[in-house]
Amino acid sequence: MNKKPLIIANWKMNPQTAKEAIKNFQEIKSIATKNKNVETIVCPPYVYLESLSSESNSSLQIGAQNMFFEESGAYTGEVSPLMLRDLKVGYVILGHSERRAMGETDQDVAKKVVTCIKNSLTPIVCVGESSRDADDYSNFIGNQIKQAVTLIPPEAMPQVVFAYEPIWAIGKDAPRPATAEEAKEMKLFIRKTLADIAGDYANSIRIMYGGSTKPENIQEFLVAGEADGLLVGGASLDPKTFGEMITIANNL
Ligand code: PGA
Repeated sequence: MNKKPLIIANWKMNPQTAKEAIKNFQEIKSIATKNKNVETIVCPPYVYLESLSSESNSSLQIGAQNMFFEESGAYTGEVSPLMLRDLKVGYVILGHSERRAMGETDQDVAKKVVTCIKNSLTPIVCVGESSRDADDYSNFIGNQIKQAVTLIPPEAMPQVVFAYEPIWAIGKDAPRPATAEEAKEMKLFIRKTLADIAGDYANSIRIMYGGSTKPENIQEFLVAGEADGLLVGGASLDPKTFGEMITIANNL
């Protein structure tokens, strides 16, 4: 696959002021501008998208952390794909485990994926098991993938990005990150699952890794783990640390 690695910041519910969001974004942009071998994206909370949209450029794009599956209507508190498009948002994280824990279902994710594609937004579909102890964790992930793409045709599948995010490896309380081997093994399984659904189209689908990534381990995930990109949570909140990750990925 001849695509640049994606390095995506998921800021989650941070930072607490627009001023800080803009400052951090600008700092990341100055590093991203010098590192064009990677595609860098920041996904801030919705409320900062408008200010960051005017700061974004081809070196540092913006993404959303969620989106509703309808384009308009009486849906209090939701944000539509048309609103995101209007702000030059290119990517949307869907089905993050923290949202699934709040009640988002596989069916919701499937409807959001098709709405993204219809509106030329790139969905980043997160899948991952809560524990490696369960015998059927591969089946669980296989099922999450199948459900997510039920409403799109095989030829649209290369427009979807997948992120393997083992729930047990996410966040500052995670006992450990996945190993590069575990990430690679799951990437191969995800690719096979996608090939069963979409045949050759599966070869051009990007499969990223996320969960406790930091400057010290990203080379491992991108090289030995063969990840097509990284979804970075905690380490993306400090622009210097995230900038270091962009630079390392760029120079691999
Ligand atoms: P983390 O989060 O890097 O803080 O583990 C990753 C994510 O939730 O996407």
